[in-house]
Amino acid sequence: MRVVSGIQPTGNLHLGNYLGAIRNWVRMQDEMEEANRAQAAAGGSAEKNQCLFFLADLHAISMPHVPADLSAGTLEMTAALVACGIDPARSILFNQAQVPAHAELQWLLGGTARMGWLNRMTQWKDKAGKNREGQSVALFTYPVLQAADVLLYQATHVPVGEDQKQHLELARDIAQKFNNDFCAEDAPVFTLPDPIIPPEAARIMSLRDGSAKMSKSDPSEASRINLADDADAIMQKIRKARTDPEPLPSEKAGLEGRAEAANLVGIYAAMAGVTVEEVLGQFGGQGFGAFKPALGELLVETLDPIATRFRELRADREALDAILARGAARAREMAGPTLDATYRALGLVRG
Ligand code: TYM
Repeated sequence: MRVVSGIQPTGNLHLGNYLGAIRNWVRMQDEMEEANRAQAAAGGSAEKNQCLFFLADLHAISMPHVPADLSAGTLEMTAALVACGIDPARSILFNQAQVPAHAELQWLLGGTARMGWLNRMTQWKDKAGKNREGQSVALFTYPVLQAADVLLYQATHVPVGEDQKQHLELARDIAQKFNNDFCAEDAPVFTLPDPIIPPEAARIMSLRDGSAKMSKSDPSEASRINLADDADAIMQKIRKARTDPEPLPSEKAGLEGRAEAANLVGIYAAMAGVTVEEVLGQFGGQGFGAFKPALGELLVETLDPIATRFRELRADREALDAILARGAARAREMAGPTLDATYRALGLVRG
């Protein structure tokens, strides 16, 4: 197994990132260790299962940005990931900008990706809106870089939230077309990666609007729980979260058409590691006056220790630099063979 995933280092890590992706990263990192132990005990393959997690700083320049904020954000997000449980001794943690193979492979895949495929990307359509002509070229080709990110390492599994599913399907299409066009049938260059999407937290919605996803780019701070929020801020944001006047239903079907209620119940279920039905079994018939404080406390219980670790880690700039430098050196090494094979398959002469 080769697990690869990334996050843009813009803004704060929020509950959507945590439940949709990062918590799965940590789980898979732990599973990977067990798999390696079992493999070694059975005298199996010497090739280790490995997780690679990265800060997608190259992706972040596809939108207008402040350079100093991007460098600071990259270090902050590194601290946040370690605080959540990503262990740089067990997983390879790095930022794209220190591994030029990402940008190189993106260019090499640019001959394979089709304009029509990119034109169909919903993220492109959402972000560009009516002003396509005014967008950066990077915003349009963004999914090709994302394909390069995972194909470069022969990723088998890519843990992401639901909003990244289409980009992963594109990565598979690019890999498949490249293998068909340039490789012998028994010697494909690229592995087709599978997205891993947590069913219970595929799409965490804004606390202010149940039809919009929780996002770093929402101008309203009240729309999201940041992992660095203190207990008071979390309790207050949950108290003010938009809801309806009805009590919670006892059955899941009763959440239909109640997007805000469904979101809060979903968050509770994901945080507590139980099903939505179980949450409704406990809170069905009760109003939000009872449910919200319980949800707030559950969030504080899990997030408070993360926020404390985050504050300690982010103060140590040298340690963060060292984590990224070490991760990048390992990533560069792992990227080499696939990058070489891609150049060769395309007939590019490199001396
Ligand atoms: P990004 O930085 O927007 O988000 C990081 C991860 O968090 C998930 N996520 C959510 N999950 C559930 N509910 C939400 N409200 C929510 N908001 C965000 C995202 O699905 C993602 O898994 N393009 C990517 C970064 C990237 C990447 C990659 C990911 C670059 N290269 C290669 C995987 C593989 C992005 O902007 O994610």
